[in-house]
Amino acid sequence: MSSEIEFKSPFIGKKVKLRAVEMDDLDDIMEHWNTYEMRIGLGKYIPESRQQREEWIKRVDKEMQKGEAYNLVILEKETGKFLGIVALKRVNYVSRTAFMSVAIYNPENQGKGYGTDAVECIMKIGFDVLNLHRLELHVYDFLVSGRHIYKKLGFKETGVRRKASFVAGKYVDDLVMDILVEEYRELNPI
Ligand SMILES: CC(C)(COP(=O)(O)OP(=O)(O)OC[C@H]1O[C@@H](n2cnc3c(N)ncnc32)[C@H](O)[C@@H]1OP(=O)(O)O)[C@@H](O)C(=O)NCCC(=O)NCCS
Repeated sequence: MSSEIEFKSPFIGKKVKLRAVEMDDLDDIMEHWNTYEMRIGLGKYIPESRQQREEWIKRVDKEMQKGEAYNLVILEKETGKFLGIVALKRVNYVSRTAFMSVAIYNPENQGKGYGTDAVECIMKIGFDVLNLHRLELHVYDFLVSGRHIYKKLGFKETGVRRKASFVAGKYVDDLVMDILVEEYRELNPI
């Protein structure tokens, strides 16, 4: 019987690497945090102050210590440049589920494969590190690039929260997407 384990870090992808959020990230976070596109994409609507984000960093640090949520900074692998945040939230260790979210902050860094790579890493953390059984996310139906990458990585569209969000003057559908560990394993055998 082989006892070999491949120790391939889930925190390092092909193009990105992930680490915990630090207070020093505040300047990078604020640079694109309040653009209208970002507000819409993340369903946050109203701009936030630097103090609010500072409180958020303290909160996610506590959540991480308690194992309730894992918000990780996405950095460009080669340069260490800040790209965005990817997260597993509302981690439930009884049902072994979590919600996933991702954002590449600067539009100039979007469409370069960083989002896909960050989602691959966080899925690996969810299934191979935390031993979760199901990951779920919600995405507006008009966010085609997000829907595309989630589907490409194995998430299925399993529900529609009809006209659940009011965005840029009209009601839009929120899609529920999820993936089970056995579906993930089929695509990513150990
Ligand atoms: C959604 C988001 C995370 C995607 O990250 P990204 O780094 O831009 O995505 P990638 O470059 O890895 O991949 C984009 C994919 O979408 C595809 N795509 C882009 N526009 C598309 C369109 N109109 N129709 C279909 N596919 C499209 C690209 O071809 C690419 O797929 P491919 O690699 O198979 O060719 C990023 O755009 C983002 O952070 N947006 C703002 C915040 C947000 O909306 N977050 C999502 C909340 S669910």
